[in-house]
Amino acid sequence: MKIFLDTANLDGIKKWALTGLIDGVTTNPTHLSKEGRNPKDQILAICAVLPEGEISVEVTEQDPDAVYKQAKDIAALAENIVVKIPCHHFYFPVIKRLADEEVPLNITLVFTLVQGLMMCKLGVRYISPFVGRLDDIDVGGIELLPEMREMVDEYGFDTGILAASLRGVRHVHDAILAGADAATISLPVFEKMIEHPLTDQGMQQFNADWATLRQAQGGVRQFP
Ligand code: E4P
Repeated sequence: MKIFLDTANLDGIKKWALTGLIDGVTTNPTHLSKEGRNPKDQILAICAVLPEGEISVEVTEQDPDAVYKQAKDIAALAENIVVKIPCHHFYFPVIKRLADEEVPLNITLVFTLVQGLMMCKLGVRYISPFVGRLDDIDVGGIELLPEMREMVDEYGFDTGILAASLRGVRHVHDAILAGADAATISLPVFEKMIEHPLTDQGMQQFNADWATLRQAQGGVRQFP
């Protein structure tokens, strides 16, 4: 499963890119707005941090023709960009046209299996089911992931399931079990999932026991 960071924060992306675990980034207008910088500069900087990663960048125009043009312009910014378009029927013809032109697309704001199927039929690279936002309205968001997995596999679609709007480590766990192709994870959730108190506790114990052994052996010794 690919791991994307769900942010436009350059420091966070740089920091965690060093782990070698990060396969890309999903930005959106909200994330970019929080950074307050020129959005094009911010996107180019993110693309440069992860040149092999997939960087999702969302359209902001609303008129379908303008969305088509903007999508092409965004895709031309860097080779590793995936263009994000909301799953709204206004844009379906544009999505079809862009997919036919092999523009890599991540269809965002997907909330039902049926929306997912329609986007798969248009040949997009990713569908992004928003798990947490469904939970927010008391509809079990996480169940959508195994259903989408079954649908994509059953019909042999060449579209990846990108689990989005994940609110905690348990959501990431469930996305793994559901066989999601990718999960996009906020910085706070990523920072939680990379550590465990029992790992810390275990390391402290091993260090203490090692120090005891070294002392018993008469001081500092090389090992091995
Ligand atoms: C995904 O691409 C979205 O940016 C993101 O997952 C939305 O998450 P939220 O519901 O926490 O805003």
